[in-house]
Amino acid sequence: MYSLIRPALFSQDAEKAHDRTLAWADRARPLIQRIYGARTPSRPTRLMGLDLPNPVGLAAGLDKNAAHIDSLAAMGFGFIEVGTVTPKPQPGNDRPRLFRLPEQRALLNRFGFNNAGAATLVKNVADARFDGVIGINIGKNKTTPPEHAVADYTTALSMVYDQAHYVTLNISSPNTQGLRDWQGSDALDALLGAVVAERDRLAETRARFVPLAVKIAPDLNEAGLDAIVARLRHHRIDGVIATNTTTARDAVPPRWRSEAGGLSGRPVRAKANAVIAALHARLGDDIPIIGVGGMMSAADAVAKLAAGASAVQIYTGLIYRGPGLVSEAARAIAASDRSIERPLLARRHAVG
Ligand SMILES: Cc1cc2nc3c(=O)[nH]c(=O)nc-3n(C[C@H](O)[C@H](O)[C@H](O)COP(=O)(O)O)c2cc1C
Repeated sequence: MYSLIRPALFSQDAEKAHDRTLAWADRARPLIQRIYGARTPSRPTRLMGLDLPNPVGLAAGLDKNAAHIDSLAAMGFGFIEVGTVTPKPQPGNDRPRLFRLPEQRALLNRFGFNNAGAATLVKNVADARFDGVIGINIGKNKTTPPEHAVADYTTALSMVYDQAHYVTLNISSPNTQGLRDWQGSDALDALLGAVVAERDRLAETRARFVPLAVKIAPDLNEAGLDAIVARLRHHRIDGVIATNTTTARDAVPPRWRSEAGGLSGRPVRAKANAVIAALHARLGDDIPIIGVGGMMSAADAVAKLAAGASAVQIYTGLIYRGPGLVSEAARAIAASDRSIERPLLARRHAVG
């Protein structure tokens, strides 16, 4: 069905089509549930101490303000990650800031954390009827200087804590100046130290523990990954999400090479899988990996689990393949459980 409406959507400006599709999905929720959600097989998965009906999740950025949780959940997702949200609302970058590259099955975006602020997101999550796992992805405001960035993360964490099943620290968006620098060793130590201390304080006062995940870039080398893994272990981070969009342009035609932003979809798939495998080689099953990046088919989902992911997330695949990809991926994962030999497959990937 989605393949019939996709040409009409793709004839419109990408951001407008995105907003209109979500507004339509809100109206068509019962139909979406019947066609897609009801067909999604159950494949119970435990992730960061949370119980998921299946390991196929929605990646951050598609529902930045958590305004469409129920219609997205109706597509069959086993968990939903909303945000990135910042403490204060901000408009993001100038338009146009979202582009399709259909031949590459890719998107290029430079949204820059446009969002209505953490207070609005929290209200939207509270109003949603979905009773499954909701992750809330947090970041820093554009105007916050680097010396106050840690406080943005701890503020956002305390604002969203009561509504989140897990919280993701986004330190890998290429569209907020300096954000990726937080992946460096000393900066990461300072950030994780402060955020974990705030989480532990909140866990105590609220008598409820919320796991923390860190979302990383696909553009890290072996040394960069070593440094991150050491900090994830040291600060007892509960999960790692690999990966965000790429700043590399090797897989796209020259017209796109000088365009600022992060590339998602097929061009990021191999890089993301290599990072998942490299993380799994270092972490084993000590810290679960949520695999994301270029999942366009059921086989791609199985490949992410084979590389070492415990769960997967989708963004760009949803735009190109439609909601049917969710149940397709969940079915393939359930069917392939016994055939996945992680360590064997993991050795075939190398980070470059
Ligand atoms: C338009 C767009 C906006 C995004 N916004 C965010 C965001 O706000 N926070 C975040 O952590 N990731 C964001 N992402 C990254 C995705 O969550 C995902 O990590 C990345 O796109 C790779 O997965 P994919 O190839 O399935 O899209 C965004 C991606 C796209 C395409």
